Amino acid sequence: QSNFAVGSKSFTAVAINCAAKAGEWIKTKLGNYTSLSLKYSAQDLVTEVDKGSETMIRNLVHTHFPNHSFLGEEGVEPGPEASEKALHRVRDEEYLWIVDPVDGTTNFVHGFPFFSVSIALAHKGEVIVGVVYDPIRDELFVAEKGKGAYVHGRRMEVAQEKALSDSLVATGFPADPHYARPMNMKGLNAMVPKVRNIRSGGSAALHMAYVAAGRLNGFWEIGLNAWDLAAGALLVKESGGTVTDTKGAPYDLGVRNVVATNGLIHDEMIGELDKAGAAG
Ligand code: IPD
Ligand code: CA
Ligand code: CA
Ligand code: CA
Repeated sequence: QSNFAVGSKSFTAVAINCAAKAGEWIKTKLGNYTSLSLKYSAQDLVTEVDKGSETMIRNLVHTHFPNHSFLGEEGVEPGPEASEKALHRVRDEEYLWIVDPVDGTTNFVHGFPFFSVSIALAHKGEVIVGVVYDPIRDELFVAEKGKGAYVHGRRMEVAQEKALSDSLVATGFPADPHYARPMNMKGLNAMVPKVRNIRSGGSAALHMAYVAAGRLNGFWEIGLNAWDLAAGALLVKESGGTVTDTKGAPYDLGVRNVVATNGLIHDEMIGELDKAGAAG
């Protein structure tokens, strides 16, 4: 019995299987979904593909591990208050699967080919497995706590740039138009003059995976949720990077305002956000 399995059933193998199955299905639905609705705001979208992917993953997880708990984005009422509540209970669970069935729904809806499936398993509040899958590029990012992080079997390492001025960083704009977006606008204003350049790809989980893979030096965003971040945070840490909230406290499942970097630019990034009043 290892920390990563029950009997012979490997948690990581199940997580990978879920991500691959859901991802393949989502890809066939690109440009092909039938129902689009709004959740919390006009920027907050959901399709039957988000819900179908979540159901597929939940069923598969429960086939293998019927006693494990499950937190998926589409199982939570829309809006910051409900997600705050959902995040309160996550630390108490023995085994909890934390799933974003489509991270990058806006991209999916518009046919912009950048989205992912994000699956994490937490044990008593600590993430022990993280998987992010990009079905368009067929890139599978996998981390196990204490065992490193891999993209398609190749070990990942964060990038080596030491200064923001040499850095390519990313951010994103959450669906909460009242608080998170204006806050992130301040951060954008502060960061643009300081960095080599900025990207906003539209999938927080993939941004985190790209920090892990050394393709981005850092990422920050205000107002995210555990399902956006849990898998990606383990990827970054296991690749030698640093993940904290925007004030510098270590990542845990309740963190909503995140800074994830190669470690070397971490303090500088937090300092700039703080100076600009953009830390949330
Ligand atoms: C969103 C994406 C996006 C980020 C938003 C998230 P969703 O997740 O990660 O990049 O900017 O804050 O809500 O709704 O597509 O799963
Ligand atoms: Ca969403
Ligand atoms: Ca998401
Ligand atoms: Ca989602």
